[in-house]
Amino acid sequence: MSKVQPNYVLPLVFLVAILLGFALLLIMPASKKENKEEIIPIGGPFELIDNNGVRRTEADFKGQYLLVYFGYTSCPDVCPIALQTMSEAVERLGEKGKLVTPIFITVDPERDTVEQIDLYISDFHPRFVGLTGTPKQTAAAAKAYRVYYAKANEDKDYLTDHTSILFFMGPDGRFLNHFRHGETVEKISQEMSRHLN
Ligand code: NI
Repeated sequence: MSKVQPNYVLPLVFLVAILLGFALLLIMPASKKENKEEIIPIGGPFELIDNNGVRRTEADFKGQYLLVYFGYTSCPDVCPIALQTMSEAVERLGEKGKLVTPIFITVDPERDTVEQIDLYISDFHPRFVGLTGTPKQTAAAAKAYRVYYAKANEDKDYLTDHTSILFFMGPDGRFLNHFRHGETVEKISQEMSRHLN
């Protein structure tokens, strides 16, 4: 038995297929864009004490670009290199560098007192802000930036394992980019400069 189809069915199927195709084209770029913006949030609220003993929160840094690094002052090699790199990258930006505040947050608040942090950052960029806090405040700040840290041993002069990543944050507090340890001063300043333009 052959079914007789009205002669408009086939063109209608084509029309629907074409419309679906257009609909997909319209939806796809939108969803791609959404995915791009759906980056895991890095950063967020924190409450710490700066190298002058003043309580600071993320709100105090609104309007400034931040180059944030978590480490500890008795770190033998990784942290000093990171802070030196940060200082040089900010300097390399020249005038625009004034828009960027380099921030050092300790993951070793037990030993890194306000005085210790202040002494430590004085070796680096003059606009460096050092932050310490209670172990709980430190843990909260590290969690916001997805930074891992843990005592490596129980010696008196213990080492601390920690994530070594620079976070570049926008004036609205939003994460812009990160730089892995060993990234060159040139690359970091170039990338920051791109955002500052
Ligand atoms: Ni370190």
